[in-house]
Amino acid sequence: EQETRDQGNIRVETRDRVGLITLDRPKALNALNKATMDELVAAATAFDADPGIGAVVITGSAKAFAAGADIKEMASQSYMDMYAADWFRHWEDLTRLRIPLVAAVSGYALGGGCELAMMCDLIIAADTARFGQPEIALGVLPGMGGTQRLTHAVGKATAMDMILTGRQLDAEEALRVRLVSRVVPADRLLEEALEVAGKIASASKPIAMLAKEAVTTAFETGLTHGVQIERRLFHSAFATEDQKEGMAAFVEKRTPDFRHR
Ligand code: CAA
Repeated sequence: EQETRDQGNIRVETRDRVGLITLDRPKALNALNKATMDELVAAATAFDADPGIGAVVITGSAKAFAAGADIKEMASQSYMDMYAADWFRHWEDLTRLRIPLVAAVSGYALGGGCELAMMCDLIIAADTARFGQPEIALGVLPGMGGTQRLTHAVGKATAMDMILTGRQLDAEEALRVRLVSRVVPADRLLEEALEVAGKIASASKPIAMLAKEAVTTAFETGLTHGVQIERRLFHSAFATEDQKEGMAAFVEKRTPDFRHR
């Protein structure tokens, strides 16, 4: 149940119905090179397809969730190299997964690290967490979705402030501007994240996936269309055994025993 697979740049474990992916490149503060991205996307994709797993936690070390995309790997790339490889496109595969993703952030979540956290469905921060988009100091701009997801999450003023000046947010400010959903003492971070993911994984997986799809739609469409999509997804829940079980359990005053979890 707690088997750990070491894949070079990440560690992959399962804890009951939760998949745990730990970034493990300590020498580079978990900088996200291509190999790390490939491993992480593959591990998360496997959890998505595994009916025994209902949620995934992505975390890093105490000092760094991830200090960004790997600057050393990018430094000498030309425009054509970047364009031909469609650099960072593969990260988007993570956002196509249907399983809920929880980011557990301690220490630095900078550049691509902040963007990776924002690709997850919710972020839980240790009180030591620091969020920032420092790309401007490197002569570039965020390239893994930061200008879009940060702006959606915190609004224009804070996003512009962070992206144009490189200012970092500590955990409390990140909570205040609604970038993260919870802040906990650093030594409780993993426990809390596993608890949250465990709670999500105790629900019906197809229903949790529908709920995730509905909320995600709010970022990609207008209100009228979004509400219509929500209603269709709500209707489709009635095609599942778990809707029958969940509602029957309420009526019969017992705990639901969901089939798909
Ligand atoms: N890429 C590659 N290597 C990195 C890295 C990164 N993003 N961040 C840290 N490292 C490496 C350092 O080069 C150093 O390696 P060496 O020991 O071989 O020199 C090692 O990790 C430890 O880092 P530091 O010695 O710098 O540690 P520190 O505690 O003094 O500072 C830090 C920590 C403030 C996070 C600092 O490492 C830093 O500023 N890192 C870069 C942050 C950054 O600019 N991120 C954005 C990257 S670009 C991007 O992400 C684009 C995008 O939108 C996707």
